[in-house]
Amino acid sequence: MTLLLGSVLALICQTYEWYLIGLIVAVIAYYYISWRNAVSYWKDRHICGPKPIPIFGNLLSLSLKPRPLLELEWYKKYGKIYGLYCSGKPRLAVADPALIKQILVKDFNAFRNRSISPGQDGLNLTRARDNNWKRVRAIVSPTFTSGKMRKMYALISHCCEDFLNTLDNNVSNGVNEVELKRLMGAYTMDVIASCAFATKINSYADPNNPFTTNALNFINVSNRTGRLPLPSFIVNTNIYRRVVSTGITEKKFFADLSRSLIRKRRNNNEKHNDFLQLLMDVERPDGDTREASDANEAHHVNEGKDEMKANAEAFSRVLGLEKKLTEDEILGQCFIFFIGGYGSVSITLSYCIYELALNPGLQDRLYEETKEAFNEKGEMDYEVLSRLPFIDALLSETLRHYSPAIRLEREAMEDVMLGNTGVKIEKGVIVDIPIYAIHHDPDHFPDPFTFSPDRFMPDNRDHIQPYTYLPFGSPGALT
Ligand code: HEM
Repeated sequence: MTLLLGSVLALICQTYEWYLIGLIVAVIAYYYISWRNAVSYWKDRHICGPKPIPIFGNLLSLSLKPRPLLELEWYKKYGKIYGLYCSGKPRLAVADPALIKQILVKDFNAFRNRSISPGQDGLNLTRARDNNWKRVRAIVSPTFTSGKMRKMYALISHCCEDFLNTLDNNVSNGVNEVELKRLMGAYTMDVIASCAFATKINSYADPNNPFTTNALNFINVSNRTGRLPLPSFIVNTNIYRRVVSTGITEKKFFADLSRSLIRKRRNNNEKHNDFLQLLMDVERPDGDTREASDANEAHHVNEGKDEMKANAEAFSRVLGLEKKLTEDEILGQCFIFFIGGYGSVSITLSYCIYELALNPGLQDRLYEETKEAFNEKGEMDYEVLSRLPFIDALLSETLRHYSPAIRLEREAMEDVMLGNTGVKIEKGVIVDIPIYAIHHDPDHFPDPFTFSPDRFMPDNRDHIQPYTYLPFGSPGALT
């Protein structure tokens, strides 16, 4: 239509310059008309929300204010259901706990997919969709049980020792200030290198080693492309993808590294206790993959009968599909550590330590709890660590107050009525669940801007209403 309108205008004007002007006018007119039609979507359905502006919808506001604060503002102003526009595309924010449960659990099949931008490959779990997601998820789940995590505990302990030695050296050299984000980023990078890529790096002493520089470049590219508030008609072009979303060299670096490790292990029949090995060996079981000790993992706060049933149903029709991961899929899952693990873990640790620094009382409680927990070798067993209530409460409160994930998103794969609200979510609409806003609602967490781990101590955590604490998203997510 745009081209046709442009050509007609050009014919009228007869000259090349006029052709160009005609084309530009036609493009603007086309987008304006489409935008006008699109942004009446929520108004026609009597759903309120922030006013969109042409071309950008509500995207531009995100450049003017940090997203969590903006979402909290919208939540307070418009309530637990409000309409948004990502350029001209409607999205629905849903923050009511019962409706969140409907989306994440009861109607899981209708909301099985997250949205992805064109050009993102679907090999890793955070990006995979439909049967691809189901199959990879069913195979990878057993690698995330607490028993399997325990296998990597020794690797993580070594990284912890390096971290403590670095701090000791700093103190001996008279350094009395640290930049937490950089320090915890280096620690997290060491853990990722050891656990996912069988590579020992020392990010503190050698921050410019090829592993760290490639990883940070890759993460920066992912963050940059994920956060730019640009309309889809720009983001979806090949030119944009070529100019902005590169990361190809970095991906190749890690793909080559992982491939050579896989070959070496296969050729020499080597076995290691790391994530790469788990992925190489894992074979999808036919039954439940959870282990009894998984229940100690504190974030299973939303997990009950409904969630178990939904999980079982989600994977019931996976049988018969290929049971092992291909080499490319193994590489894809290793990238999860960068995409899903690096930012979230380093941010959580940074904020947790920051709060400890501000609150000497919390430091004392942590010291009291942990001083008895070390064994005669000065080490702490995984089982002992996973049962310490104060550490657990401290991290849970950090994840509430400073949730690294600001929102969850799901794409409606069919039309769904939202509870008894009378609101129909139509196929193709993206649902946003604004985690930060929900975590800072005083009805769910009194005095929400006060850092108070006691909310998550064993006597209190049962009072937390299900689906108001969502740092890891849906109960079945592999985090
Ligand atoms: C503080 C740490 C972390 C936080 C707060 C966090 C949070 C999240 C959230 C909110 C989601 C989306 C869930 C949903 O859409 O329902 C997610 C998905 C995921 N995360 Fe994490 N994550 C963390 C660490 C990690 C780490 C270390 C890994 C890898 C080892 C990881 C692997 C994944 C995977 C594989 C998914 C996709 C799960 C699926 O599709 O079933 N995460 N995470």
